[in-house]
Amino acid sequence: MLKIAFMASGTGSNFQVILDRIRDGRLSGVKVEFLITNNSKCGAAELARAAGIPVYHISGNTHPDPKALAKAMVDIVDQHGVELMVLAGYMKQVPDALLARLPDRVINVHPALLPAFGGPGHWGRYVHEAVVAAGVRVTGATVHFVDSVYDHGMIIAQRAVSIPFEATVDEVAALVLQQEHDLFWRVVEAFAQGKVQVVEGRVECSVS
Ligand code: GRF
Repeated sequence: MLKIAFMASGTGSNFQVILDRIRDGRLSGVKVEFLITNNSKCGAAELARAAGIPVYHISGNTHPDPKALAKAMVDIVDQHGVELMVLAGYMKQVPDALLARLPDRVINVHPALLPAFGGPGHWGRYVHEAVVAAGVRVTGATVHFVDSVYDHGMIIAQRAVSIPFEATVDEVAALVLQQEHDLFWRVVEAFAQGKVQVVEGRVECSVS
């Protein structure tokens, strides 16, 4: 069993889909240990509590010293023996100490085809607004490794979405979210099956 944990700040729909795939048996070989959130009242935290998954609230409020905050995260990862950290809508920077503890084992989903429409300011609805404003005809979802620069780590898997003519920002957001939901759990499955390899700075990953 691959021990996984989540970090989330928002609604938690990607988190819930992964829990659903475990429950319905399509995703096997993983065990969910806990969820870390910087917002104890967010949807993801509520979903975790409802599923009986431990929630750790770690934020600038609970841990004003960044070093203490990083240590708290690393300690929890060590206590649970977590092997893969899954960012499902986590809005804060992941401390370097945690990245160092789990090299090439912290992953994130981003609602665009990186490296386009990523980086500071490109989060949530802003991503889709920028996509529509640019007039591109294709967008999508990217699962990537997390490094110390926002939306910058090596790309693991992507799904493209064609943008219908005159689609609204909300319509684009919904189409992309649908693809995130179908892709993210498959990448987690690939990790569980040992089907993700980093070879000379590139990622080899076969998703089902
Ligand atoms: C998703 O669009 C994801 O790409 C981004 O944050 C959003 C989280 O949505 N990183 P949800 O909380 O999983 O519904």
